[in-house]
Amino acid sequence: MPRPRPAHAPVTATSSVPALVANALPLLDLAPAADDLRRDVLDGLARRPRSVPCKYFYDDHGSRLFDQICDLPEYYPTRTELAISRQYAAEMATACGPHTLLVELGSGSSTKTRVLLDHLRDPAAYVPVDIARDFLRSAADELARAYPRLPVLPVCADFTRPFTVPADRLPAARRTVVYFPGSTIGNFTAPEATELLRNIAALIGDGGGLLIGVDLRKDQDIIERAYNDARGVTAAFNLNLLTRINRELGADFRGEHFRHRAVYDAGAGRIEMQLLSTRPQTVQIDGHSFDFAADEVLRTEYSHKYSLEQFAGLAAAAGLGVRQVWSDRDRLFSVQYLSRA
Ligand code: AVJ
Repeated sequence: MPRPRPAHAPVTATSSVPALVANALPLLDLAPAADDLRRDVLDGLARRPRSVPCKYFYDDHGSRLFDQICDLPEYYPTRTELAISRQYAAEMATACGPHTLLVELGSGSSTKTRVLLDHLRDPAAYVPVDIARDFLRSAADELARAYPRLPVLPVCADFTRPFTVPADRLPAARRTVVYFPGSTIGNFTAPEATELLRNIAALIGDGGGLLIGVDLRKDQDIIERAYNDARGVTAAFNLNLLTRINRELGADFRGEHFRHRAVYDAGAGRIEMQLLSTRPQTVQIDGHSFDFAADEVLRTEYSHKYSLEQFAGLAAAAGLGVRQVWSDRDRLFSVQYLSRA
């Protein structure tokens, strides 16, 4: 969503134009270096089966494509979570408490956040954390404009690694609540998810909380349709990963020789997104070459689906207890409030 630039604002090559909104604090850049992408891609491609971490989907274009996925008729998670949030926003806000510092992991366009912010009592500040810098900057600006009394401090970071926000950048708050919607937790394997939840438990401390969206186990067809949409937006999102790697690492992936595939593994309870090599081919990346056989799989994402019991078990392993669960009548999706056990 490009914002109109005022005629008098200087056009600069970098995005260092200061925020024009008083409560939009300057972006704190803890962003991963290009080196991380290089190392993660080279490591993942050398492994069997080959894989690339899904966090690299979210460059600027990938973040836009993800917003389009959220509007697809087949992609039930976003609209279901939004409906749950609208219906129970007052209860969620009560759980979060007054004068709370709200930290959102993977904030994207901050669409669901608005429903929550509309009900929170006197929130101390909002800290959207995202890996896509420019996308984050404009989303934070837009949100700050819509909530002029709310300090908004965007943090560009890879939240899969521990990070700290310097306390002197933030107003004092009664407590910290981490908001982690979208079932992004599903992207992690159980050990990774446990580690991330442990980091969150440390961040919120004893008085704080975690408000998290968790996609639930359900009929396999509903899940597979959500990741194989008729318009091919998910395919474009998946293939954009190769375009990004070409651009940022000077690789020579040919997108037309890879095909999007998403299959549900009922035993593991997860969708696996893949890019399938449609022919034998060699890809060069920064002096390294990778031979793909015909039909060889490059795994790009897991998306785990949980039963309520399974998720409670995962949380318990990280020292968190589930306090409240909100769901839709078809039990497609859940939003849950947790605090330290
Ligand atoms: C927001 C990361 C949870 O796994 O459903 C959507 C990402 N991938 N379609 C998901 C995604 C393909 C999404 N998460």
